[in-house]
Amino acid sequence: MDKEMENLREKFFKKMASIKNREELQRIRNEYLGRKGIVAQMLKKITSLSPEEKPRIGELLNKIKRDFQKTIAEKDNDFLAENSGKEEQVDISIPGRNFMLGTTHPIELILKYTEEIFMGMGFCIVDGPEIELDYYNFEALNIPKDHPVRDDQDSFYITPDILLRTQTSPMQVRTMESQPPPVRIISAGKCYRRDSIDNTHTPMFHQIEGLAVDKDISLADLKGVITEFCKQIFGKDRITRFRPGYFPFVEPGVEVDVSCQLCQGLGCQSCGYSGWLEIMGAGMVHPNVLEMAGYNVEKYTGFAFGMGAERIAMLKYGINDIRLFFENDLRFLNQFK
Ligand code: PHE
Repeated sequence: MDKEMENLREKFFKKMASIKNREELQRIRNEYLGRKGIVAQMLKKITSLSPEEKPRIGELLNKIKRDFQKTIAEKDNDFLAENSGKEEQVDISIPGRNFMLGTTHPIELILKYTEEIFMGMGFCIVDGPEIELDYYNFEALNIPKDHPVRDDQDSFYITPDILLRTQTSPMQVRTMESQPPPVRIISAGKCYRRDSIDNTHTPMFHQIEGLAVDKDISLADLKGVITEFCKQIFGKDRITRFRPGYFPFVEPGVEVDVSCQLCQGLGCQSCGYSGWLEIMGAGMVHPNVLEMAGYNVEKYTGFAFGMGAERIAMLKYGINDIRLFFENDLRFLNQFK
């Protein structure tokens, strides 16, 4: 039995020395320490030994078993450490993973710049609904049901009284209803008209509305504010021109042009050989509008203006197709860093 045990040890350690992976280790564990393994079979043989030999051999065999278990466990740990080391290895020569950082959309940029310029002149920002009552979008702006300008603004009606706003001008009335004068607000956002898509029209676009109401406000204040805005957004060398224009909610009404950047007002293809580019509608708030909003028309006057953000962006950045703003082409959008 002693000789047998010696052979057992020798064979086991020899095999362990040549082991290469955990599968082989598992095989050896089963072979030696399994329920029907070599060690178990030898332990069984103890019953046939003499009473004097039993305890000595039993103890030796149990020691062998513990030694084998320990050796196998250590080897197993070695394999595990080796493998996990492999997983955690970092190859510092691999280039870092590039991740894309978004840029601000050009329309968002224009809205932000415009709001900042007007905030610098004492205006506050207000926000309004895109789903609007016919009353605010038309009626309260001096555009009754049968008024012909409604034809110009083919609208998306939800019910006969509710529509997607065709302009940001309803915010003039909503603001005046919610606060007493003086008022100085800017309100920018999406507007909707049933236009067919071409290089200057999309059914959804953005407008920026402005309103100032106080005692003694005149057309000169409007001219001053708008001229300053144009210089700040387009550059100091640009000049502005005010010519008569018609909007039912202003009187007098004006349309504002800015000198063409390409030809400095001389006339070229981009400005239709006029030297000027139209950028907004404006005027003195019509007394009917002030009155409907509940303001005292004897005491207060005001001016209002409205412009298309896409048009401002196209003029500022030299973009010739409005559809570019909504196509999400990264080659276009990435240019506005
Ligand atoms: N809301 C007008 C439009 O959409 C622009 C405008 C605003 C004109 C305010 C005058 C005053 O064309």
